[in-house]
Amino acid sequence: MPLVNAKEMLTKAKAGHYAVGQFNINNLEWTKAILLTAQEMNSPVILGVSEGAGKYMCGYNTVVGMVEGMLETLNITVPVALHLDHGSYEGAKACIEAGFSSIMFDGSHYPIDENIAKTKELVAICEEKGLSIEAEVGSIGGEEDGVVGAGECADPDECKMIADLGVTMLAAGIGNIHGKYPENWAGLSFETLAAVQEKTGTMPLVLHGGTGIPADMIKKAISLGVSKINVNTECQLAFQEATRKYIEEGKDLQGKGFDPRKLLAPGVEAIKATVREKIELFGSANKA
Ligand code: 13P
Repeated sequence: MPLVNAKEMLTKAKAGHYAVGQFNINNLEWTKAILLTAQEMNSPVILGVSEGAGKYMCGYNTVVGMVEGMLETLNITVPVALHLDHGSYEGAKACIEAGFSSIMFDGSHYPIDENIAKTKELVAICEEKGLSIEAEVGSIGGEEDGVVGAGECADPDECKMIADLGVTMLAAGIGNIHGKYPENWAGLSFETLAAVQEKTGTMPLVLHGGTGIPADMIKKAISLGVSKINVNTECQLAFQEATRKYIEEGKDLQGKGFDPRKLLAPGVEAIKATVREKIELFGSANKA
């Protein structure tokens, strides 16, 4: 199946009280592991690409070529959206041009008027080209690709202003942060989430920083209107741990254990296991 935008899968998720996972990709192994797992579990999936990862993978055209090639060769029939994660205004335009099916414009660091003006312009372009678009209000904490945020809680009235521009999905800061959560993390602000959901109605809400959020908080967030959950670091940690084990056990020194197809295999299996676990938790299995 060719790439689809994220509108239909997220509208269904919001109505059905489950969430679709956005898993960020870093290379070919990552992409293949996520696509095969989504297919195996009959789940829709969103592949997230940060601007840094896009650059690392030789640019957006390369990413589109790789993903489209895999959809065909691996016979992927579940809905797959290719989504720019935390895009700048310029990055969003470049991805639209390259053939992504969905973009995020992160204008959360602009004053609200500027965030509104830029989001509005991109909404019009996406509408014309049939792409879905995610906007953000209230920056997500932690560090991602050099973008550092303090983890603020979004103002529900500002969320409504952005939602009313016709975006497909809205990321609202609710105390969530990218990367590992610190020991003294206060947890998600369900008060903020409930207020945002009340103001934005049927708008699918996006929870960033999915790594390390306890399962009960994930379930509560879904019950309060979260329909898309982003996971990146957790797959990276799973890959790292499995690769470290392979090398520490000296397996790279045995036979042809140095072959990258063997050396990277445990890491790939670890990514698959993480994605499987998240799809179960988010409730999107068999929702393709
Ligand atoms: P984590 O790396 O914390 O899972 O966050 C991913 C994310 O929100 C991507 O936008």
